[in-house]
Amino acid sequence: MAHEVRGVVATGKGKPVSLETILVPDPGPGEALVKVQACGVCHTDLHYREGGISDDFPFLLGHEAAGLIEAVGVGVTDVVPGDFVILNWRAVCGSCRSCLRGRPQYCFATHNATQRMTLADGTPLSPALGIGAFAEKTLVAAGQCTKVDPAASPAAAGLLGCGVMAGLGAAVNTGAVSHGDSVAVIGCGGVGNAAIAGAQLVGATTIIAVDVDDRKLDWARGFGATHTVNAKQADPVERIRELTGGFGADVVIDAVGRPETFKQAFYARDLAGTAVLVGVPTPELMLELPLLDVFGRGGSLKSSWYGDCLPSRDLPMLVSLYLQGRFDLNAFVTETIGLPDVEDAFAKMHHGEVLRSVVLL
Ligand SMILES: NC(=O)c1ccc[n+]([C@@H]2O[C@H](COP(=O)([O-])OP(=O)(O)OC[C@H]3O[C@@H](n4cnc5c(N)ncnc54)[C@H](O)[C@@H]3O)[C@@H](O)[C@H]2O)c1
Ligand SMILES: [Zn+2]
Ligand SMILES: [Zn+2]
Repeated sequence: MAHEVRGVVATGKGKPVSLETILVPDPGPGEALVKVQACGVCHTDLHYREGGISDDFPFLLGHEAAGLIEAVGVGVTDVVPGDFVILNWRAVCGSCRSCLRGRPQYCFATHNATQRMTLADGTPLSPALGIGAFAEKTLVAAGQCTKVDPAASPAAAGLLGCGVMAGLGAAVNTGAVSHGDSVAVIGCGGVGNAAIAGAQLVGATTIIAVDVDDRKLDWARGFGATHTVNAKQADPVERIRELTGGFGADVVIDAVGRPETFKQAFYARDLAGTAVLVGVPTPELMLELPLLDVFGRGGSLKSSWYGDCLPSRDLPMLVSLYLQGRFDLNAFVTETIGLPDVEDAFAKMHHGEVLRSVVLL
């Protein structure tokens, strides 16, 4: 039996999203049907609707979610109906060449549901990041459901499903930020501010927030930034060097994903430092760098897929830190909205008015 529910769909490149009736199949083998309780609006959803990720319209948007397991398919044992779960978009397979080499965080064959959700007329939907959670119910691979402590608020916990995990992991996992490090974060939206919170959590001593919007920089201070730089008023590379004894930061995180911000991250590193790209570029963007500088400055240039997280390891741990009051997930929730408000939330994101709008269902 298919479940008829409402979902937020992007029908074509750059077109405003619309609320549509969608059909969600009952879970087949290895799948889970989830009653979505909350789903954050991430910049990646906007990338999808702008055609910046692929042309596989129509997209069922939303991928930063928490909810309750409603039903599971044959062979599913890790979750049962009633479990409170965070949805993740990198359910590791356990058998690809990366998993077999002991690097499941890079899994090259992550799992999604095999059955397709559709529009009422049968048109198959492409769920954003294999999730599609701006919907009352969604169908995912069971491995995309990570059971966490139900004491957590769905709006806060859901954010761990994408932006907060990606940003925090970019600092802690990919950048391997450690106590005493200096860190700079370029772009302080939900992702960048999570990187700042992560850097603080593991004891970085200098944390420099860079953005073009003073509101974001105010938020960044709240998450642990020790210094802020408005990139419209000062050259971020020069300022980061000044704030780090003239040398540059040990780790610089680009949470914007443009050639100019990546170049800033590249040059704002100390010698042998690390630049982490967590912002997602669009296909037309090109990077040009003197190869001699790539060699001469040493260190490493890394990309961070989902904060190099392992959902089963990291999501329950971060929920635990949140419930202990050591990691303020609630501070990322600027507003809660309804399903019909997603297009407005994109506009607010675009104008820098929110860190996260979270759809409550
Ligand atoms: N790698 C991953 O796994 C992953 C996961 C989630 C999101 N993302 C990506 O991370 C990026 C950020 O996502 P978000 O949800 O935080 O977006 P956001 O729109 O909330 O934040 C982006 C921030 O960058 C700032 N900014 C823009 N141009 C700038 C510039 N030139 N210099 C300094 N700051 C600048 C904006 O003012 C804003 O505060 C997006 O590209 C998103 O697609 C990546
Ligand atoms: Zn794998
Ligand atoms: Zn996202």
